[in-house]
Amino acid sequence: METGSRWLAALWILFFAVLSPCVGSSSPQQIDPLMYEEQLLWVSGAQGEVNTYRIPLITFTSKGSLLAFTEARKGSASDLGAKFIALRRSTDKGATWSPTSFIVDDGLKPDGLNLGSVLVDDEVGSVILVYAICFHEYQCKPSSTMMVESLDDGLSWSSPKNLSVQLGVKAFAPGPGFGIQKRFNPAKGRLVVCGHGTLAGDGVFCILSDDHGRTWTHGGELKSIPYNQQKKALDFNPDECQPIELTDGTIVINVRNQNNYHCHCRIVVRSLDGGLTLPIDHLYFDTVLVDPAVAAGALQKDGVLYFTNPSNNQHRVNLTLRWSLSNGHSWVKEAMQIWAGPSGYSCMTSLDSGSAEDQKFIYVIYEKGHKDYDETVSFVKIHLYGGR
Ligand SMILES: *[C@@H]1O[C@H](CO)[C@@H](O)[C@H](O)[C@H]1NC(C)=O
Ligand SMILES: *[C@@H]1O[C@H](CO)[C@@H](O)[C@H](O)[C@H]1NC(C)=O
Repeated sequence: METGSRWLAALWILFFAVLSPCVGSSSPQQIDPLMYEEQLLWVSGAQGEVNTYRIPLITFTSKGSLLAFTEARKGSASDLGAKFIALRRSTDKGATWSPTSFIVDDGLKPDGLNLGSVLVDDEVGSVILVYAICFHEYQCKPSSTMMVESLDDGLSWSSPKNLSVQLGVKAFAPGPGFGIQKRFNPAKGRLVVCGHGTLAGDGVFCILSDDHGRTWTHGGELKSIPYNQQKKALDFNPDECQPIELTDGTIVINVRNQNNYHCHCRIVVRSLDGGLTLPIDHLYFDTVLVDPAVAAGALQKDGVLYFTNPSNNQHRVNLTLRWSLSNGHSWVKEAMQIWAGPSGYSCMTSLDSGSAEDQKFIYVIYEKGHKDYDETVSFVKIHLYGGR
């Protein structure tokens, strides 16, 4: 018996020694996502000075810290009204989080701040947050594009800078999501923030910086039709958006299709010149990405595209992760449901450190609830290879 079990043990060791290199490796064909960890970062419900938390953003910094941001809406759940920008920070990849700090306070404004795009400049190690104030021009004028910056990994933040001084006055709501720093040519190093315009003058607009956020210029535009006129149902009305960069340097912008033009699905537009133009020739409707008109998450990691949204053509429910091995031309049919119930805006990030461990995870932040999607902001760590 004893000899037998020793033999068995030796066999097992041999078995694992031979097999483990394959088990440990992670190729895109083996993606089989698993919810690894979930934590509620913010819970709405009139605590202290905050009524509702909405519009979550997440990013890794250059130093590998995770930063989660959200609007802390003071008086009500409305997009209008006064708000803080709330931040929580994690230095252990989301296992534990700092308490909330309010990094921007708009006071008592009837049409306060709206998030926003977070952007990491890996060349200088800064984190930039671009947001709007007075976006709806409700009891205020004009709308302004604002920026705050952290040079110490998200610990402290500059006072707000008014980018409308450089850009001119125009209603612009960045993101919501992340902006990108171009990692490949054309325009390697450029900062690209895309967002949308006012209700009548809607469309996707990008702003660009080639000097690490010191100065900004207008980039590509994809205007709504009829532009600057009242919209009807089914008009072409591109709205909130998330840009990502492919490894060939193409910028792909995944866009909310506000009035359900052509389909209840996502608009995708590409820029081949580093965000200078968004030509209609490079626009398509992704009918697989069924959508109720919402801000969605997109991410490119190791050549795979990821997409999160409430996957339902009418309602904000059923938050789902999809992935594509063909730059979004097709999506793997095994989608992963993150939350069946009410779910709204989402944003994703991952750490590209080159380590085998960091290759395995993506991180999602999203609006989650039981009755309404704005009840909590939840953070999910997803193991792409089923926990292996
Ligand atoms: C930002 O700058 C623009 C253009 O100079 C100005 O009209 C607007 O009032 C400024 N906004 C704020 C909040 O200072
Ligand atoms: C949830 O999403 C999946 C994937 O898109 C879809 O097959 C399913 O019908 C959706 N369910 C609901 C209730 O929307």
